[in-house]
Amino acid sequence: MSDTFDVVILGGGSGGYATALRAAQLNLSVVLIEKDKLGGTCLHRGCIPTKALLHAGEVADQTREAEAFGIKAEFLGVDMKGVNTYKDDIVGKLYKGLQGLIKSAKVTYVEGTGTLVAPNVVEVAGTRYTGRNIVLATGSYSKTIPGLEVDGVKVLASEHALVLDKLPASAIVLGGGVIGVEFASAWKSLGSDVTIVEALPRLVAAEDADISKQLERTFRKRGIGFKVGKPFEKLEKTDTGVKVTIAGGEVLEAEVLLVAVGRGPSTANCGYEAQGVKMERGFVLTDERLRTNVPNVFAVGDIVPGLQLAHRGFAQGIFVAEEIGGLNPPVIVESGIPRVTYCDPEIASVGITEAQAKEKYGDDKVKSLNYNLGGNGKSGILKTQGFVKLVSVVDGPVVGVHMIGARMGEQVGEAALIVNWEAFPAEVAQLIHAHPTQNEALGEAHLALAGKPLHAHA
Ligand code: NAI
Repeated sequence: MSDTFDVVILGGGSGGYATALRAAQLNLSVVLIEKDKLGGTCLHRGCIPTKALLHAGEVADQTREAEAFGIKAEFLGVDMKGVNTYKDDIVGKLYKGLQGLIKSAKVTYVEGTGTLVAPNVVEVAGTRYTGRNIVLATGSYSKTIPGLEVDGVKVLASEHALVLDKLPASAIVLGGGVIGVEFASAWKSLGSDVTIVEALPRLVAAEDADISKQLERTFRKRGIGFKVGKPFEKLEKTDTGVKVTIAGGEVLEAEVLLVAVGRGPSTANCGYEAQGVKMERGFVLTDERLRTNVPNVFAVGDIVPGLQLAHRGFAQGIFVAEEIGGLNPPVIVESGIPRVTYCDPEIASVGITEAQAKEKYGDDKVKSLNYNLGGNGKSGILKTQGFVKLVSVVDGPVVGVHMIGARMGEQVGEAALIVNWEAFPAEVAQLIHAHPTQNEALGEAHLALAGKPLHAHA
């Protein structure tokens, strides 16, 4: 083992381990340093366990609604122990698989807390790892707001909400962003009474406005409460739970409060600033090639300002490894990264919203079309409602695809190809989509936008 490695990576989450695997494929010598568990937030406290919880909720809903499909079933309740076993089993298998991947890639895996002690050295418990290149990939943590202390019992962050052995009878969810609506959806399906409190005027405010409208409509139908345009004001803990005061003075009561007001960059005490790495509000600043201002120091994942998504971390990790390997990879376009929110109904989008397109191209240069899933046979079979919304430039390419409805997350792959390959509506319209699939809704939306609708109702 040489003393100097080609790449020393600090953080073994999505961004860090993707860098390690790609760098190893390029025959670079790699050290991957992780203080907790390989796989990071996504695998252990984020994407994977949350989606398992949401799927358990979907099974509960389907059992309750079985009669609508002519099936006799009785919903007897939720066994959280069983749900947790199912969830932990999936995480466990993926964790094992990932450990195997890192091992067989011959990456030197170091368990411990690393600190950047020189621009090319990370120290772990007194051992120094010198790298020709350093990749910072320390991820993010659940933020809270001043005066609101997360105690893990009555006031939870998402990592606590994922390991409950008893479902709260009632919950207030602070923040109607991605984490907020996913937990609200899962908990409602599993039997909790849920109210979301959101400061901005709509749920999932980063999405196209039509998506928020449809989500709010469906959440209302599902009996999920929400208060929008209502910043949090005050928390009081009681014997039985929490009392939350929101703007306007309304007081809400529940067993627990879930705080989902965003995730901050995990960069404190990592030595970045001390080594001259340029930072802003705790984030590490990079150029579009993910280089920091310090030579040969790169950053990937949630510590780099932008979308905090695991697949962005994977892509950035691969990019940086290839950059170090001299392959000169193409720059990652942030708006081309697909986004899925796994609440029921699912939200999937890629590209820009109608409002962003109008700002970029001018009001009269943007065309949009909502294809209602009412015209889509498979969506009818699933008894889901929603739409596919296309945003295109007049006589130009599709620049945004926004979808909502059960399972629509699975359709985001084609949507991402359409937007990233700058396809014109007529070009997509001539591609044949299988019938009856939900994917067909994407094809039909393009047929309609190209002026030749098939199963489209006005
Ligand atoms: P977020 O930024 O999506 O939403 C936070 C929400 O909290 C915002 O709507 C904000 O207006 C609201 N808020 C902030 N302060 C408030 C206050 N004082 N009172 C009321 N509302 C307040 O952040 P979130 O949901 O915590 O997620 C963190 C990150 O994790 C996001 O970047 C998200 O993309 C990512 N993530 C992605 C998932 C996916 O891809 N499916 C799943 C879960 C998280």
